[in-house]
Amino acid sequence: MNIHVMTLFPEMFDSLKSSILGRAIKNNIISINAVNIRDYAFNKHNKVDDYTYGGGAGMLMQAEPVFQCHKAIIDCINTDLDQNIKIRTVYLTPQGTVLNQELAMELAKEEELVLLCGHYEGIDERVLEETVTDYISIGDYVLTGGELPAMVLIDTISRFVEGVLNNDESAMTESFSEGLLEYPQYSRPEIWHEKKVPEILMSGHHENVEKWRFEQSLMRTKERRPDLYEKFENTHKKDKKGRWIRNI
Ligand code: ADE
Repeated sequence: MNIHVMTLFPEMFDSLKSSILGRAIKNNIISINAVNIRDYAFNKHNKVDDYTYGGGAGMLMQAEPVFQCHKAIIDCINTDLDQNIKIRTVYLTPQGTVLNQELAMELAKEEELVLLCGHYEGIDERVLEETVTDYISIGDYVLTGGELPAMVLIDTISRFVEGVLNNDESAMTESFSEGLLEYPQYSRPEIWHEKKVPEILMSGHHENVEKWRFEQSLMRTKERRPDLYEKFENTHKKDKKGRWIRNI
């Protein structure tokens, strides 16, 4: 998967080159191409922002540099692929659809993805209308720019790209994979600060361990995220043996 990021701060994306993502980049499973929008400024001071029509505080990113930057990226992809495919362009904004695992999984199917990071008070609406296909938020709070949200999105998506995680790190057996939070986990030593690892985890009885973990997931979700628990209850029902099965 090739991810192209339009940003005023391309160096921020260097921090993605470590850990699991770094390994995926080295193994050519993922590429991150951070492009500086300022390289497409059309004045001698490389200015990309201006005052907002109608007044109000703050500056706005102008349409033309964003448009030219986007065009350069799309032209480059289409030349490389030797065809004209529709490429999704995501604008990171608090006004977007809130990111979740499902959306990340859907985006992970794209071969090419363009991300647009805003700054100042936002971006001229006209260029958004011409370039953006998806508006995504990472939560109901406002950050100073789209770079951190873009990195959150890249990390979340990458985990669903085949080959990024190895078996031990599998994306399917953790919080949210069934809409529930993950159960508590323990490692050595068996007793730490007088707290003992739950007996059942040392029983070697696989079926009982799985049952315990599922119950813990349910309890934890009910307690910490009642919204998710309600959703789970509405999409699952208990079978004759009392096991939860998907309903919808
Ligand atoms: N830009 C600023 N705040 C943001 C948010 N919460 N999500 C996505 N992009 C943003």
